[in-house]
Amino acid sequence: MAKDPLHTKLCDLLGIEFPIIAFTHCKDVAVAVINAGGFAVLGEAMHTPEDIAADVAWIRDRVDGKKFGIDLVLPASVPPTGSTEELLAQIPETQRAYADSIKEKYDVPDPKGPVDLHQWGGLNQELARAQLEVLLDERVPVLASGLGSPAFILDAAHERDMLVFGLVGKPRQAERQLEVGIDAIIAQGYDAAGHTGAIGTFSIVPQVAAIAGDTPVIAAGGVTTGRHLAAALCLGASGIWSGTQWLASRESDADMIIKERLLASTASDTTYSNTISGMTMRVLKCPWTEEWAKPEAPDVLPAPYQMLLSSDYIQGANDHRRADLMTEASGQGVDFVTTMKPARQVLFDMVEEALATFEETVGELD
Ligand SMILES: Cc1cc2nc3c(=O)[nH]c(=O)nc-3n(C[C@H](O)[C@H](O)[C@H](O)COP(=O)(O)O)c2cc1C
Repeated sequence: MAKDPLHTKLCDLLGIEFPIIAFTHCKDVAVAVINAGGFAVLGEAMHTPEDIAADVAWIRDRVDGKKFGIDLVLPASVPPTGSTEELLAQIPETQRAYADSIKEKYDVPDPKGPVDLHQWGGLNQELARAQLEVLLDERVPVLASGLGSPAFILDAAHERDMLVFGLVGKPRQAERQLEVGIDAIIAQGYDAAGHTGAIGTFSIVPQVAAIAGDTPVIAAGGVTTGRHLAAALCLGASGIWSGTQWLASRESDADMIIKERLLASTASDTTYSNTISGMTMRVLKCPWTEEWAKPEAPDVLPAPYQMLLSSDYIQGANDHRRADLMTEASGQGVDFVTTMKPARQVLFDMVEEALATFEETVGELD
């Protein structure tokens, strides 16, 4: 085979060596992956516009002109505006009382300070808009939207030479974004950590690839090893996007309790649950998800109210490092995350295994 199977159109679009994208909240992970020849997108949906600008500058200082991305969430279904206090006041008494009963049953401590989740761009459209403005001002090379269509921002981004990537869980969503000229589409399956739809990765990726034409498709959801990478390319993707494995990498600033838990967890330790944010999401099981899954639990609230309700529990657990209560987004690929490797090693191991897989399948490569 004359062609390098890992050199795809996504590599050309981004100027990268390997078609591997790390989704991470940790700047050190992002920089390590970018400087090792992959690509990274930093999740900034929880950050203030000022913090986003500072993080963009920090990354720029360390990647020697290479491209990088920032991910926000832009759900259309949340209120246009409203302070956290106003939104909190709209939470019905039944759900509030149930949350209080969980707090009491598990002795969940109060957060030590202001709740970080109250910055989440998914709480109202005004917050997300302010975050977006920074990305446009800074001309961030790649803007990704993890929730909600970024179609409305395409023209403004393209005028600034920025690329826009959309993340979808259904072929119909991909179709709409492709119609308006999205630059790449992340087809994310049910295995994935974080907000995700109900269609499996093996089903969604080839469906989106079939309608994407020349637009690169990026496979996400459980894509964790080199074998997964090779399979994703065979399904029609031009690259992969993963999250869980970088969370457990050595550079990751995730709490060591979470990292150790990821290393020890299997897919069965994760749950597909709408109880954290009101939208379906894959996370590590914890008392909050298990209590809300009980038949006697009240209805889960829609976004953003359930997120406001869970944020007190989550931050109380995190601030006090209560291992028995803590949770984090985790995908089913967590079975393959067994050692805490440096991020560049995660990347190189994936590349090496993918090449070995192709060789095993089709014979020696150039
Ligand atoms: C801790 C964590 C938080 C995440 N938060 C977001 C987010 O804010 N925005 C987003 O687009 N995706 C988010 N994701 C999902 C990733 O973008 C990615 O689609 C997912 O991790 C892929 O599945 P994998 O974990 O099996 O690799 C998150 C993933 C993890 C592990």
